Amino acid sequence: MLAEMLVWTGTQATKPARQLGYARAAVSLWSRRRRWTRDWAEHESNTRDFALKTVAACRRRDTVWLLGGGTLSDLPLTELSALFKRVVVYDIAWLPQARVAARRWPNVELKLADVTGVVRPLSEWRLGMPLPIPQADAMADLDPVPPDCVLSLNLLSQLPLLPMEYVQRQGMTLQSAETFGRAILQAHLRGLEAFTCPVGLIADARRIWRSRAGEVVLSESAVLGVKLPAPEKSWHWPVAPRGEIDNETGLEILVEASRLNTESPD
Ligand SMILES: C[S@@+](CC[C@H](N)C(=O)[O-])C[C@H]1O[C@@H](n2cnc3c(N)ncnc32)[C@H](O)[C@@H]1O
Repeated sequence: MLAEMLVWTGTQATKPARQLGYARAAVSLWSRRRRWTRDWAEHESNTRDFALKTVAACRRRDTVWLLGGGTLSDLPLTELSALFKRVVVYDIAWLPQARVAARRWPNVELKLADVTGVVRPLSEWRLGMPLPIPQADAMADLDPVPPDCVLSLNLLSQLPLLPMEYVQRQGMTLQSAETFGRAILQAHLRGLEAFTCPVGLIADARRIWRSRAGEVVLSESAVLGVKLPAPEKSWHWPVAPRGEIDNETGLEILVEASRLNTESPD
């Protein structure tokens, strides 16, 4: 608990992002990963492999953008740092551990950014006011230099969560909050499609709860029913093995990986 307090204090995030709970969520991610390092290893390795497969299709290798840096554990930074002149990693909250770890690579830059563009306007939003409209071009201006490759890594399903929690805390119904959440997800997908360079998308597709006996108790879309691009690869990520949420049920994620703007998938 004390360790988590210290990490939270050292986590970098804007005031609106803190207000919506992104610093707290970053610490929670760090803490869960510490508890389940071995269980998450295969998922992280699959993510790194797919990211490298995506960059193999890049003709120019000046700048690569990584969206959703988190703990950095699923990013192949050593390889990307050797392949590209600039590796720019975006997240809405940066853990102190990630900032220290990134110093290892002189051409890796960690940037604080909200890739949806809705967090700051939302922090001033109250029930009865028009909601900010998630824009597909929210990512276009992240950096003045356009990227040669974009990787969205285990980020998509997370984008609507805290905005939806926030609007419900302000009194919005679940149904309206979900409509807003879908608009955030769709804007991210349209934004990725709008890049002219190769794009890799690794995203949670379904949440699956399993009993102690291994039976599926519940399976639901992790992206509010939004259609994802056809996956080239998929795998199961035991995100919360039994004991994390309760002693009887474990939660796993069906992760799907796809490539956009790549002429010949191989
Ligand atoms: C499930 S984590 C995956 C991160 C990383 N790939 C990892 O496994 O450690 C999702 C990440 O998305 C970030 N995130 C959530 N909403 C964001 C937003 N609006 N803009 C930028 N990053 C966001 C979170 O801070 C978190 O680090």
